[in-house]
Amino acid sequence: MSNEWYKELVVYQIWCRSFKDGNGDGAGDLYGVLEKLDYIKSLGVNAIWFSPIYPSPNADWGYDVSDYKDIHPDFGDADLFRKVVDEAHKRDMKIIMDLVVNHTSSEHYWFKESRKSRDNPYSDYYIWKDGKNGGPPNNWTSLFEGGAWEYVPERDQYYMHAFAKGQPDLNMDNPKVREEVKDIMRFWLDMGVDGFREDVITFISKDPDFPNGFPLPIACGIEHYNKGPNLMKYLKEFREDVIDKYDCFVVAESPMTGAKDALRFTSGDDKVFDMMISFDHMNADCFMTDTVHLPFSLRKFKKALGAWQTKLYGKAWNALYIENHDHPRVISRYGSEEFRAESGKMLATAAFLMSGTPFIYQGQEIGMTNIHLDSIDRFPDVSSVNTYALMKSMHLPEKFIMSLINYGARDNGRTPVQWSAAKNGGFTTADKPWFEVNPNYPEINVEAAEADPNSILHYYRKLLRFRKENEIVRYGDFRMLKTGRKLFAYIRRYNGQKLLVVCSFAEEELNFRVAESEFDMSKAELVLCNYDFNQVVHNGFFTRPYETRVYLLK
Ligand code: GLC
Repeated sequence: MSNEWYKELVVYQIWCRSFKDGNGDGAGDLYGVLEKLDYIKSLGVNAIWFSPIYPSPNADWGYDVSDYKDIHPDFGDADLFRKVVDEAHKRDMKIIMDLVVNHTSSEHYWFKESRKSRDNPYSDYYIWKDGKNGGPPNNWTSLFEGGAWEYVPERDQYYMHAFAKGQPDLNMDNPKVREEVKDIMRFWLDMGVDGFREDVITFISKDPDFPNGFPLPIACGIEHYNKGPNLMKYLKEFREDVIDKYDCFVVAESPMTGAKDALRFTSGDDKVFDMMISFDHMNADCFMTDTVHLPFSLRKFKKALGAWQTKLYGKAWNALYIENHDHPRVISRYGSEEFRAESGKMLATAAFLMSGTPFIYQGQEIGMTNIHLDSIDRFPDVSSVNTYALMKSMHLPEKFIMSLINYGARDNGRTPVQWSAAKNGGFTTADKPWFEVNPNYPEINVEAAEADPNSILHYYRKLLRFRKENEIVRYGDFRMLKTGRKLFAYIRRYNGQKLLVVCSFAEEELNFRVAESEFDMSKAELVLCNYDFNQVVHNGFFTRPYETRVYLLK
């Protein structure tokens, strides 16, 4: 197997507004990032992915970009960013930028021009259509904010937005737009960044007939633009004209893409991405979106991970993650707030000892949990607000709606990082942070975690060190073991070595046993465990609540 450097990365994701406020205005910024580079490095991380830090009116907190070649003044400026890149590189950490080119902000210069008339130079930069029968061109609905079409009187036409109204979709069929995208990529790569995380990149090619979609209250029409007809052509163009000319890599965000499909994008001669962010395993407690909550199903979780692990092994490469800025905190979803330390460590073990590149989301390493807010006015995310309005229009009871929002809102992952037990969790010296700090900060914070040898934080460091020191974790094959309903266990094999990973998702004791022919635990070394060591009997043991154990057989 080749040794491309992206396979050796451990990525830390920064959602800057909530990471660390360095200038005391209540919002996280690049001053805060500079302050914390050594901390990030200390985790065993060697790359940082920045969620968008470009100028933006924040209709979708930065995922609506109004200038692709600058830094949001809330976060600093281009010089400060260059300093962050240099300082990260000095510490052997790569920098990955979020490339958001399915849509821009409606405040972007291109859109402001485009909306003026049908014959201006930017007229075809976006998707404009005439109305039909006095209404929009088709029945599509957006993912975030009502219908997918907005009427603009100046052009007597509608523009399309897959997300919020302030996020008009670019017309990627226009070769000029594709040149702009390449230009943006080159701009950042020339500045020294090492790659991109490409935002909803599989949405960029739309069915040219714009047919009606399967009627759904949200995302109606998505089947006509996810993995659309010219997607491969455009992605190849980006790859050949830019990506292949730099020493960089690309991780693609790709909703509704299965493992089989992912192979098409990440392997063989047609490879356009180095890895993909899959959604399958993030739907183990919901239907399509986190707010349509279902009981957590470990079976679903295992099935999804198993498919990606086995189908891609040896041919392509996985991105491993269980948290990011689009999801609630994983302990509150797949683990247990009651067994926070145990389940936080177990979930990290389950996810990051598989084959692929780990992506850790800020605060995950100290086991941050969901916040509980009693009124929709306290949720800053457009999709929370819209989901609330949609459920209200369906006359669902307020209490029920708020329970779903509290469980599934993306805002849960966007509360400020808790650095210490000081006011506002040490996130800011301002009186009020831009968004509420989780009231559990006196107990859950970085300083407390540093002081506690049994903390989730120290476990992450141990886990990542183990990963780094053992090629089997990076390059071994993967086989899931048949276990009971509440256990997840797998074996990795590499160069005559074997690794056994056992994870309990239960609050009660369970019995785990593996055949000696499969893995002889009496000859293996216990290398990681989230409890004090406890004896192996007959190649098996009882797992305690959310216990995880890792054995290495040389
Ligand atoms: C991606 C981002 C998400 C954003 C959406 C629209 O899914 O991760 O945060 O809202 O794209 O850009």
